Amino acid sequence: MRFAHLDYAASAPCVRAAADAVQDLIPWCGSVHRGTGIRSRTSTRAYERARERVATFVGARPADAVVFTRNTTDALNLLARALPDGTTTIVFDTEHHANLLPWPRQLRLPCPETPDEAVAAVERALATVRGPALVAVTAASNVTGEIWPVRRIADVAHAHGARVAVDAAQLAPHSPVLLTDLGVDYLAFSGHKLYAPFGAGVLAGRSDWLDAAPPYLSGGGASAAVGDQPGDVTWTTGPARHEGGTPNLLGAAALGAVCAALHRADRAALQAREQELLARLRDGLTTIPGAVEVTAFRGAAPRVGIVSLALPGHDPARIATHLADRYGIGVRAGQFCAHPLTRRLIAGQATTPCGDGTPGLLRVSFGLGTRDDDVDRLVSALGALISTRS
Ligand SMILES: Cc1ncc(COP(=O)(O)O)c(C=O)c1O
Repeated sequence: MRFAHLDYAASAPCVRAAADAVQDLIPWCGSVHRGTGIRSRTSTRAYERARERVATFVGARPADAVVFTRNTTDALNLLARALPDGTTTIVFDTEHHANLLPWPRQLRLPCPETPDEAVAAVERALATVRGPALVAVTAASNVTGEIWPVRRIADVAHAHGARVAVDAAQLAPHSPVLLTDLGVDYLAFSGHKLYAPFGAGVLAGRSDWLDAAPPYLSGGGASAAVGDQPGDVTWTTGPARHEGGTPNLLGAAALGAVCAALHRADRAALQAREQELLARLRDGLTTIPGAVEVTAFRGAAPRVGIVSLALPGHDPARIATHLADRYGIGVRAGQFCAHPLTRRLIAGQATTPCGDGTPGLLRVSFGLGTRDDDVDRLVSALGALISTRS
């Protein structure tokens, strides 16, 4: 039986462009930025080419930096450490923990009921902030798939002299993420959610705060000159300042290759196809007794191919295990590293906790390889499991 991977929001399978980029580079792997031999030169070229491809993918402006990180978590932690002293970060409590926990001095806003309310809440919060401010917001929720009004939040933030960082981990695989179109200052995303699972991620955006901040990792590559006394160091500027040590060449090359492939692809067609799958799934779910699709916003909002379900009377973790073991379907159960949001979505639903006693939802998510029959198989398997009260 074909395995139906419906857990793209966690990690997406490697696509050919990423695998080929890695395969092609393996014979040439050498030290990036640190040698004159053919391997070193080839590796340096490949690494910087990957950076250019990512820059094109995010529509980087001339003064923007593209820094390779390990993943979105790493990228947002890097930005959090680069904030000017006294910066207040405004975040909603709906964020993934990667975009909730790193910010040192934060003003946390409760989940808004609508996108309009999200924009208004940011505006009200900004009016109370003195000193530098950053709004850190997700572009698409990893729990509900709902798309946040990033452009409007950015307009409000900029009118107040604040900056905006976007957690694009879930939007980048589904839709173009151009800094200019979104109107934001920083974007972070992960290779493993973008079909390039080789351990690279990205922070892209304005270089001034990054160049003024202490290096994220002190060491070789980040340092331009080191004197004899402790602390006698001249740090580099640009991406190298925050990429101390030997970088993840294969991860960057794989991610750059996928960014280039997606940039060339007809993304409007891919998005239309994904919306068809989403409609098929949501239609099918109406036949599952008691299943409730959860959303943060009241009313319909645009969304990517992610759906989370409350399954009253059923342990979502057990259902997920049965889907895998009996039907060859991979989904995810739990709170998806977004505990405050998941708790809120579950409140008021008569859900059964997961086996470990924690509340949870069942999440289904799509990507480029998802087929109609994957969705149909999931719906019929869920129907069978729910009716037999597993
Ligand atoms: C919206 C969102 N932000 C951040 C992350 C963290 O990504 P990573 O684990 O690749 O750092 C995730 C991962 O699920 C996510 O869905």
